[in-house]
Amino acid sequence: MKLLVTGGAGYIGAHVVRLAEQAGHEVVVVDNFSTGLSQRVQCEVVNLQLASPDAQSELSALMQKHRFDAVIHLAARKQVGESVEIPEQYFLDNLGGLGNLLIAMRENDLHKLVFSSSAATYGIPDVDTVSEDYPGKPINPYGQTKLIGEWMVANAAVWGLRGVNLRYFNVAGCEFPDLADTAELNLIPIAIAQLKRGDNPIVFGDDYPTPDGSCIRDYVHVGDLARAHLMAVDYLDAHTREYATFNVGSGSGASVLEVLDALKSASRIDFVPEIKARRAGDPPRLVADTTRIEKVFGLKAEHDLEQIVSSAWDAANN
Ligand SMILES: NC(=O)c1ccc[n+]([C@@H]2O[C@H](COP(=O)([O-])OP(=O)(O)OC[C@H]3O[C@@H](n4cnc5c(N)ncnc54)[C@H](O)[C@@H]3O)[C@@H](O)[C@H]2O)c1
Repeated sequence: MKLLVTGGAGYIGAHVVRLAEQAGHEVVVVDNFSTGLSQRVQCEVVNLQLASPDAQSELSALMQKHRFDAVIHLAARKQVGESVEIPEQYFLDNLGGLGNLLIAMRENDLHKLVFSSSAATYGIPDVDTVSEDYPGKPINPYGQTKLIGEWMVANAAVWGLRGVNLRYFNVAGCEFPDLADTAELNLIPIAIAQLKRGDNPIVFGDDYPTPDGSCIRDYVHVGDLARAHLMAVDYLDAHTREYATFNVGSGSGASVLEVLDALKSASRIDFVPEIKARRAGDPPRLVADTTRIEKVFGLKAEHDLEQIVSSAWDAANN
């Protein structure tokens, strides 16, 4: 197959590209390198800001040149805190980019799309594991752009789009050391960077209603997630497609303190975490119900927390 991957120079996108190439697919990447790294991709790369005025015509020209079979759309701004500070920019970039992409796909009879969504669409759920049918309500502009993005994908069915939304939970770890997550935005890369600087990793809040008092999240290995994208592309060919939206997580929760314990083992550094006050807007618990993706795609997370943390640690010390 020939695949267009937007955001393919990013942490997750580069894993998707690498696995797609290993599976024999031809890949073209579109990325503006706002956070992506050129050294992560060796295939044809088009440097394009998807939300720019020229994007529709440039995408259309690219689609005429290549006749892609499907698009995997990962390119987006993804920082929750920043989205609260500059919400307009998030709506413009994340939804403008998706709008330009959909128009170009419509013009070029390109009918298959996998969209990077997020567990941020759920907001603060009051259930142990959250299923795709849970009526979530995002609590920040970032999560709102992902939920509206899903609606844009659903509405494009009017011209025949087949879309799949993958709601990622906490993506971490590394399948290929040269594709590591180098941004210090999520718990594991932040804690590794703190440790490497000689600081103690920080825990925000140890008084949540959880067994050890720290927040519980669902950590999914980036390799398991990347595989889900290739399965989603195949699913778009299925004769009957009952579902458009799939959680991608491990299906089990780990607390911040458990993650840091795994980091102590991986690093062999016996640090004492520094406890700070809670941050606003952190749900105590956010764990995926993965029944649907296991049943329909046959996907079961292959990597546990120890493998996620040790692969991230090894890549950072490579
Ligand atoms: N990392 C996570 O835990 C997580 C969780 C849920 C959802 N997601 C989603 O997964 C996707 C990829 O995330 P990531 O962690 O790899 O982030 P990343 O920042 O490493 O990758 C995003 C890529 O998209 C590119 N990009 C951003 N805006 C663009 C634009 N307007 N035009 C062209 N290129 C643009 C960036 O340069 C980068 O290469 C995003 O859509 C993000 O919202 C990530």
